[in-house]
Amino acid sequence: MCGIVGYIGDKDCADVLVDSLEKLEYRGYDSAGIAVIEKGIIKVEKCKGRLANLKDKMVLEGKPCGGCGIGHTRWATHGEPSDINSHPHGNKRVTIVHNGIIENYRQIKEFLISEGYSFVSETDTETVAKLMDYYYTGDPIETITKVVAEVKGSYALGILFRDFPDRIYAVRKDSPLIVGVGENENFLASDVPAIMKYTRDYILLEQNEIAVVKREGVKVYNTHRELLNKEVYTADWDVDAAEKGGFEHFMLKEIHEQPTAVSTTIMPRISDNMPDFTVEGFDAKKLAAYKHIFIVACGTAMHAGMVGKYVIEKLARMPVVVDIASEFRYRDPLIAENDLMIVISQSGETADTKAALELAKSRGADTLAIVNVKGSSIAREADMVVYTHAGPEISVASTKAYMVQVAIMYLIAFEVAYGRGQITKEECERLTREMAHMPEVIEEAMCLKEQCQYAASKLLNADSLLYIGRGLDYALSMEGSLKLKEISYIHSESYAAGELKHGTISLITENMPVIAVVTQKGLEEKTISNIKEVKARGAMVVLIAAKNIELEDGVADIVIRLPEGDELLTPMVAAVPLQLLAYYTSVLKGNDVDKPRNLAKSVTVE
Ligand code: M6R
Repeated sequence: MCGIVGYIGDKDCADVLVDSLEKLEYRGYDSAGIAVIEKGIIKVEKCKGRLANLKDKMVLEGKPCGGCGIGHTRWATHGEPSDINSHPHGNKRVTIVHNGIIENYRQIKEFLISEGYSFVSETDTETVAKLMDYYYTGDPIETITKVVAEVKGSYALGILFRDFPDRIYAVRKDSPLIVGVGENENFLASDVPAIMKYTRDYILLEQNEIAVVKREGVKVYNTHRELLNKEVYTADWDVDAAEKGGFEHFMLKEIHEQPTAVSTTIMPRISDNMPDFTVEGFDAKKLAAYKHIFIVACGTAMHAGMVGKYVIEKLARMPVVVDIASEFRYRDPLIAENDLMIVISQSGETADTKAALELAKSRGADTLAIVNVKGSSIAREADMVVYTHAGPEISVASTKAYMVQVAIMYLIAFEVAYGRGQITKEECERLTREMAHMPEVIEEAMCLKEQCQYAASKLLNADSLLYIGRGLDYALSMEGSLKLKEISYIHSESYAAGELKHGTISLITENMPVIAVVTQKGLEEKTISNIKEVKARGAMVVLIAAKNIELEDGVADIVIRLPEGDELLTPMVAAVPLQLLAYYTSVLKGNDVDKPRNLAKSVTVE
């Protein structure tokens, strides 16, 4: 949550900061602000709302001029979204931008008040800024070292000291931060897309490393003031990947990118028609030897884990526990040596998922991370990493990242099942070949757009919706429901179809549409009976069904037929109309599809 940027160089700093912040708005958009050193004075411009408001403000009032500055886009934690709570914070001597949460800010604030400091905002960040001022000795590194020794919580900080107008200081703990390395110009950012227009080279800051970013170069120190030799990484993402490329929204673009994303993710993990994770450090034998598998993640990533559970249990006959990271980390889980913990995270920075990973490690379990962002905290901490190659996902609502996570879960399931002798090599090869064919089937599903648009037009006025399915279709409907509610703001729940009669069916009226997913043979008759039950009680039903499922006329109000694919893998195809349904409902309601209210892409606080 929150995005921070910094720039030093010959370009117009305010322009670069605003431009970079645009790429980070997915991290929060409650307010935006910049601070630029203009003729030796730190000048701040900030305001509530989207970055566009700040741009308008600077057109009207003028922008600060200079070549060195920091910027921020906020997802509010402490203090409501307002001008005064917007970052940057500080005073004439020290000004900072912050991403994270300072847990002991109240104690620090009380102490500083007793020392004569006054506060204007409700933020935790202002206490750090004032503490920085309190400890300021004329030596920024010494000052920063004292401050980080005192604050508890998570932070990525960009810091300007008025006395050092030729540099930006930066430090991080538990919130991501990179330093972009250019020619006679350097950058600071929470994430790579922010700097891609200017440079592909970057340094990853580790816990409590302090960066001194000057025009002519970057130096990184540890808290003992030792100069570190940092590796410079080069981003391999396409610059255009972070642009809309002619699509109205990033979400729609990202839905369309799914066939390619799946292909680039799975093909390096398939050899001779078999799953192959040797590069990632595991194989069928290793996976089969684990006693238990835990899959832990948040939100959409957790839903990808649910699909993984169903497929691993079905094929490998091995119990899998799926847990929400925020629950897992606090419920003293029964995880131990010889267990495998799989964490799934697009960003690789989700605070709860990271904490769950650390807990599993401390209990002696092996950890395997499925992560999209290279070099992210979770990727660096896990014992084994499978990178998904979805490219940057900008829309807050995850689509392509989910699809590739699911694809990897399937390949892992095939590998465990084969390792445990539950499927033959021939069956494993067959399934893997079917997976290799999935990008084409997913591509075919894109032609369901118009049907989904029509179905969406029938959902607009609902106050609440139900998603139902059984088995894998239930796992999938959880994701369909989340997608719809997060961007359309219509309440929805996903239910195991068989559970309806145990309470929820009493909610059904003509004002509660039901989205049913039926892709699995053997379960179809059961779910279709449930569809009849809700229809008999007045519900409008949208049915997403596999091609081979026989349906009576009139079984549902709208039937969306999926293109043909292997039955076990069909949930990947069904994900597409579920995403499109959510997308068009949001568009038709006139919502901000890519930046739904109250949300941020990367949840780096618990
Ligand atoms: O970056 P992560 O995959 O760890 O994020 C986890 C969730 O916050 C995320 O999947 C969220 O639920 C989606 N943005 C919803 O579309």
